[in-house]
Amino acid sequence: MYEYSGPKVLQLKRRNELSHRVCPWWLGYFLASPIRRFLYDPEEVLGPYIKEGMSVLDMGCGMGFFSLPIAKMIGRSGKVFCIDLQEKMIEGLVKRAKKAGLSERIEARTCRQNSLGVKDLAGEIDFALAFALVHEVPDKDRLFSEIYDTLRHDGKFLLVEPGGHVSKKDFEQTISTAQGAGFESLSEVKVRRSHAVLFCRRTDKK
Ligand SMILES: C[S@@+](CC[C@H](N)C(=O)[O-])C[C@H]1O[C@@H](n2cnc3c(N)ncnc32)[C@H](O)[C@@H]1O
Repeated sequence: MYEYSGPKVLQLKRRNELSHRVCPWWLGYFLASPIRRFLYDPEEVLGPYIKEGMSVLDMGCGMGFFSLPIAKMIGRSGKVFCIDLQEKMIEGLVKRAKKAGLSERIEARTCRQNSLGVKDLAGEIDFALAFALVHEVPDKDRLFSEIYDTLRHDGKFLLVEPGGHVSKKDFEQTISTAQGAGFESLSEVKVRRSHAVLFCRRTDKK
């Protein structure tokens, strides 16, 4: 079946954008598999930071391995904004959310590679998660600035990168980029086979 996906120029532009080291969409099924819980238990990893009623941002959410447990943790009065570059990831997430009866707590969006498109969420987010996302994003300065702007004054941001793909040195560079965008490192966090840091907003950001 032929599917129209916009003018030729836009199609080409989008294909070029996707060429930057992005996790293939079909891997989304594996990443969302319950078997992955043996490695990462979402309640254990995120439980210390997420409370009922919170607004949470899950960036590079894939098919929602973390988004669905987050939606359970925030309860009926909370909201999780799930953002991904790839439509297929978002389609998978939306299907899984519907099946789990969690659709009302989830707002799913696709974004562009160089912007999360979250201006409307400025100052709204209590907790932001970037799990295995940042190494796939070319413009990290912009990514971190956008995350910073979405957070409430006491909001927190958990950055987790896979140890297998990202060297310690590269992760340290990523931390300084986040600090340059106004984040302050609160603590290193233990997440299996990963590098992880919890950030808050630096209040004296110029
Ligand atoms: C390795 S997967 C991790 C998925 C999910 N966080 C998890 O742990 O199950 C990385 C995800 O980030 C998305 N992604 C890559 N670049 C992105 C960008 N610039 N903006 C938003 N999402 C992006 C990919 O489409 C993919 O779904």
